Amino acid sequence: MDSITHLDGKAAIVTGATGGIGAVIARALAEAGAAVTVVGRRSEAGEAVVKDLPRASFVAADLTDRDSHRRVVDTTIDRFGRLDILVNNAAAHTSGPAIQGTEEDFDRIVALNYKAAFFLTQAALPALIASGAGRIVNISSIGTIKTFWGAAIYNSSKAALDNLTRTWALEHGADGVRVNAVNPGIVIDGPMSAPVQAFLDIERDVLPTIPARRLATAADVAAVVTFLAGPGADYLNGVIVPLDGGLTA
Ligand SMILES: NC(=O)c1ccc[n+]([C@@H]2O[C@H](COP(=O)([O-])OP(=O)(O)OC[C@H]3O[C@@H](n4cnc5c(N)ncnc54)[C@H](OP(=O)(O)O)[C@@H]3O)[C@@H](O)[C@H]2O)c1
Repeated sequence: MDSITHLDGKAAIVTGATGGIGAVIARALAEAGAAVTVVGRRSEAGEAVVKDLPRASFVAADLTDRDSHRRVVDTTIDRFGRLDILVNNAAAHTSGPAIQGTEEDFDRIVALNYKAAFFLTQAALPALIASGAGRIVNISSIGTIKTFWGAAIYNSSKAALDNLTRTWALEHGADGVRVNAVNPGIVIDGPMSAPVQAFLDIERDVLPTIPARRLATAADVAAVVTFLAGPGADYLNGVIVPLDGGLTA
């Protein structure tokens, strides 16, 4: 296996690839040789990601709309002839104590982080099975392993995604599909962590708790996703990877 181009000939969907971490994941998969469908609602951001990649196309989609799922999968197959890799990365977040959580925030976050990932995966599975080496990588959060204050709705939606990761691994392992999750801690260049970084004194309160003494980067996430998407991870299935510099060790 050529470790640089180990995804040559593969086609991937990356949701939330108009955003910080998703764009870096899309680039890493493309650098490893995959054709990539970049998914998000913001067309300008999506086109900007796609223009720097050798084989990529943007599909504008609000993934809380059930009709978008088949369209994302069908467009990928129309453009690239196949689908091998699905990265469920799109997500929404809210901050605040659980006792103040609103139904509106609950429905918005569950609709994207859990329900959209469920039904997009369901739509993608026939093509991933047909691939013979289908790969699903779910971007979860360290908050499912070590919970933290002020993110009850978000963390529990990601915990549901972790559970789906294991269920899909169990139900489709024999079809050649591998399903794993990456659970990052605070990602320094991940836009979703901006409120947390503004709220916490990272240097004083967070870094001493992380054995690696640094926050994660989007590149750290992309490196693990690229590995999980490739042939080197063929015997990893149903695994939740804490990408936390040893925080939960
Ligand atoms: N940043 C961190 O510290 C951190 C830590 C642990 C885990 N994570 C996880 O990493 C992933 C990426 O986070 P990030 O920091 O890169 O955040 P981000 O930049 O806000 O990315 C979120 C992405 O989701 C997309 N999205 C939001 N609502 C959508 C909808 N209804 N339909 C389709 N796409 C939608 C956004 O694109 P549009 O606005 O274009 O739709 C955007 O591309 C998330 O799963 C997050 O939970 C992040």
